[in-house]
Amino acid sequence: MTRAKTTNIPTVLIILGATGDLMTRKIAPTLYHMFGNGSLPNMFKVVGVARRELSNSDYRDFLSEHIKKRTRINSNKLNSFLNKVSYNKGFFEKTITYSNLKKTVREIDDQWGVCANKLFYLAVPPKFYETIFNSLSSSGLADPCSPEEGWTRIIVEKPFGEDYKTAKKLDELLSKLFKEIQIYRIDHYLAKEMVQNILSFRFSNTLFEKIWNKEFVGRIDIRLLEKHGVEDRGAYYDSIGALRDMGQNHILQMLALTTMDHPESFESDPIRFKRASILKTLRPPLKSEIKKYSYRAQYDGYKDIEDVKKSSKTETYFKIGGAFLTSPRWSGIPITLESGKRMGTAEKEIVITFKHPIPCLCPQGATHYENKIMFQLEPEEVISVQFWAKKPGTTFDIEERDLEFRLRKNNKKTQYVEEYEKLLLDVIAGDQTLFITTDEVHAMWRFTDPIVKAWQKGTTKLHTYRPNTNEPLEKSSLTDSLTGFALKPVEIKSGMKGAIGIIGLGRMGGNIGKHLVREGWRVVGSDKNRELLSELEHEGIETASSMKDLTEKLPKKKIIWLMLPAGRVVDETIEKLIPLLKANDTIIDGGNSFFKDSVKREKKLSKKGINFIDVGVSGGPMAALDGASLMIGGRRAQFVKLEQLFKDLAHNGSYEFFEGVGAGHFVKMIHNGIEYGMMQSIAEGFNILKHSQYSLNLKKIAAVYNSGAVIESKLMGWLNDAFKLHGEDLKGVSGKVSQSGEGQWTIDIAKEKKLKVKIIEESLKFRKLSQKSPNYTGKILSALREQFGGHSARKER
Ligand code: BG6
Repeated sequence: MTRAKTTNIPTVLIILGATGDLMTRKIAPTLYHMFGNGSLPNMFKVVGVARRELSNSDYRDFLSEHIKKRTRINSNKLNSFLNKVSYNKGFFEKTITYSNLKKTVREIDDQWGVCANKLFYLAVPPKFYETIFNSLSSSGLADPCSPEEGWTRIIVEKPFGEDYKTAKKLDELLSKLFKEIQIYRIDHYLAKEMVQNILSFRFSNTLFEKIWNKEFVGRIDIRLLEKHGVEDRGAYYDSIGALRDMGQNHILQMLALTTMDHPESFESDPIRFKRASILKTLRPPLKSEIKKYSYRAQYDGYKDIEDVKKSSKTETYFKIGGAFLTSPRWSGIPITLESGKRMGTAEKEIVITFKHPIPCLCPQGATHYENKIMFQLEPEEVISVQFWAKKPGTTFDIEERDLEFRLRKNNKKTQYVEEYEKLLLDVIAGDQTLFITTDEVHAMWRFTDPIVKAWQKGTTKLHTYRPNTNEPLEKSSLTDSLTGFALKPVEIKSGMKGAIGIIGLGRMGGNIGKHLVREGWRVVGSDKNRELLSELEHEGIETASSMKDLTEKLPKKKIIWLMLPAGRVVDETIEKLIPLLKANDTIIDGGNSFFKDSVKREKKLSKKGINFIDVGVSGGPMAALDGASLMIGGRRAQFVKLEQLFKDLAHNGSYEFFEGVGAGHFVKMIHNGIEYGMMQSIAEGFNILKHSQYSLNLKKIAAVYNSGAVIESKLMGWLNDAFKLHGEDLKGVSGKVSQSGEGQWTIDIAKEKKLKVKIIEESLKFRKLSQKSPNYTGKILSALREQFGGHSARKER
């Protein structure tokens, strides 16, 4: 993969947090190195911003000292480099800091006679992110000089937030203020030579990719063991621990590169998309699994480190195992993730162990022959393939041997410089391949959050270990117990919050079930499709063989959620449930039923004393998993009793009760009518763009429309995803658009009320006509439906 990069562009690098650890350890030595090898732009300046009272020359002396500590220098070169550096004193909370900074960068622009590109590097603790994002935006510092001149980009270091919620909040803020193409979230592991080699090893060779799946791979182990400790990062580390320092980011990125599917091309978007796709299939372990298959420990002496709490329960070592990936390619295979500080040995590696056929031609009682592929970053950068060969001699003995590829002799690289050089050059060139996307950040937090939470509650004991030893490795050897564990059904304890039955476990129902399990509910599900059931069992959902079985498995005051296609099947299910239920049981219809049907159903059920609540669920299957928007109708007293359930399912408190039976479905029906019109106008607009006289990249248009523009929306984001999935021509996507009724209902109700609904009416007409004359507009609609509702985009034959 070769990528031409334009990096010789006038650039001002503004470092916020210029006297901190990140600057002194990583950024400054890298910049000096880049200056030395001529890879910095000819017109380049660094402006450091921090609280300390320092003159320009004090700051240069300060940097000089740190650079000398970390790398061999040439005094003349160092002085020339330092001449490019200046310093602004400033507090991040104060407006004046940003107006001063604006003055400084304007002076540089004036001096150069150009509008330079501005790169803002947030080398500060995450607590300052929000203030800085807001101030960069409101001060106008982050505005480019014009659309063609002087871009501005923002670099953010990990940890991005401290959990899913904070990361999401940060992201929402960031995406309001900046476009995604301006944001560069660093995980320096992605820039490591050996980590980059995972993709080339897998995808540039035909040797292994065919066996790179659960049929052949038996397990994956990723470990990042370090000899050094927490040293002078006590305050940061103690609030975060090993799992969030190394696991949530570096280790999961290594797992993503090891297991992701082949990208469409080696361009930035397809690679990032595939990384995110595999990370989204991660299933966090259940509490019972965390208890059984995780180990955490702290080294003796850790609590004496400055700014570490004397009562600290923070882990400096962890190991966790499980069958975390749920994609069909990997589901069920055991994976262990492990990292520790102050270990006896520095070992950073990924080990892929292949299955060996049983029965095998192994000597009786001897080790079973397994092949391994190892990507090792430390102590040496090596890829090795372990295999078995005959021992030279008269007997037919088999021994283990290695084929080794050593990346380079005597790796004399200064720590971090190689990675940060690549990263900085990529930011200047505008290449986002090595930077993580919002989707990746979210998926990684969603995986680690339940583990962190369980550990905080004491589910897994915190052990201690002697520093500079490998003590925890032996004690935490979950390895044996893990083999074979993954395929066993998960043990479920009664839910802490209550029990609920779900009928209809398609993408929406299944994800609602998974979501509720994570929230501490006991979920019993049933579906006609048996295959769905076994997959969901693994997600902690108990399955029922029939409706009778389902109701019998639920405790008194049963709650049953229907997630079925609107119409007859809902009536039939309710008919079957009535004899199985008693007064005070509740049926919730979470599907897209017609509100008048809901009114009839409620009437029927209330005669038996059975409660009925109608709920419109919006946001698509991913929202069902992460938090949807809920429109709830029915009787207030019944809603109040179940409010916790809705709270747990909703996205950030996005649930609303509307008094009146059917009101929830009424509000959802209109929502869907609006959705028809919005989708139609997006599809028509993109149809024109496709046929324009310019050769426009539609994917890029969808991306830019979806980043800070007035029409930024979930739908636009989904269109972008659809282009990534099917390509801009939407090849194979049907131009015939299906519909499931809500548009018609909206139109009928409007007519009843003598109101005009021209746009919605036309949108529906279009869908009907598309059955006879499919076209590109129709393809866009089908692709959007596929993205948000999991409706098949019906491939053309
Ligand atoms: C950082 C962590 O992200 O990565 C550190 O915060 C860790 O705690 C470091 O030591 C490891 O990086 P590398 O490049 O030395 O393997």
